[in-house]
Amino acid sequence: MSLIFAMPGNAALAAKLAKASGWEPGSAAIRRFPDGESYVRVDEGVSGRDTAIVCTLARPDSRFLRLVFLARLLRELGARTVTLVAPYLPYLRQDSRFNEGEAVSSVYFAQLLSREFDRVVTVAPHLHRHRSLGEIYSVPTEAPSVAPLFAGWIEAQVADPLLVGPDSESEQWVSEVASLAHAPYLVLSKRRHGDEDVDVSAPDLGRWKGRRPVLVDDIVSSGATMVAAARRLIEQGFPPPVCLTVHALFGRPVEALLRGIGCELISTDTIPHPSNRLSVAALLSAQLAKPVGMAG
Ligand code: R5P
Repeated sequence: MSLIFAMPGNAALAAKLAKASGWEPGSAAIRRFPDGESYVRVDEGVSGRDTAIVCTLARPDSRFLRLVFLARLLRELGARTVTLVAPYLPYLRQDSRFNEGEAVSSVYFAQLLSREFDRVVTVAPHLHRHRSLGEIYSVPTEAPSVAPLFAGWIEAQVADPLLVGPDSESEQWVSEVASLAHAPYLVLSKRRHGDEDVDVSAPDLGRWKGRRPVLVDDIVSSGATMVAAARRLIEQGFPPPVCLTVHALFGRPVEALLRGIGCELISTDTIPHPSNRLSVAALLSAQLAKPVGMAG
């Protein structure tokens, strides 16, 4: 039977995935030596078996090496295939050389992962200037949309919603969710001045009065985008928006900031966080069930 291994911090999602996919939970010991280096051991036979490693890759730099060690070990022990299930796939935002001399880390990271894995499964990758993961990954990638999950939640929980994307990049997600949720949508304009410094502007939204705004974005990191967008809506007399995000990266206490202006924050479990209310386990397990090599 196929085996699914959890990197530290990923046990809950890996257990849900094992249950949903019928893959057997694999047993491995992964810990840090006192000097910060990683120790990795696999405790069962993997020879000839399909294997998957579940590893969300928020704050990837401290997780990457141990992940590679486990992948290489599985291969060395004879695993037939090694799939990476990365509910959050990082290094997609630096997808261009915006300023002279910058590393295009989206490409480098994709090359590194493609070297180690037979397939990469994720959800809602932040694709902007790269149109698909296939442009930068040389192994099959599978990335189901979370739009049906979001749309189902909105339909069940929010009366008369108005879906709002905080910037033009979010239009790809918000438009899909809006169409599935049978709700109107619009996108605001954003100018980024720095990592945590953005301006968001909104046109006159008077015609939408009476609706409950739902802000939809793929990533909340510093929270600057979500907070600024929520403020623009509140300034126009709307009730505090529901803030829906896939990846709760949260570099600072974003939840408290949003709560301070009356907003509720809801995320999926791609990155463990108290705001997780929606699970991507079913989406990921459906992809895992496909034979390796059958992307889509
Ligand atoms: C845009 O690139 C993304 O869709 C998000 O809007 C952005 O990553 C959010 O970042 P932050 O929370 O730091 O404003």
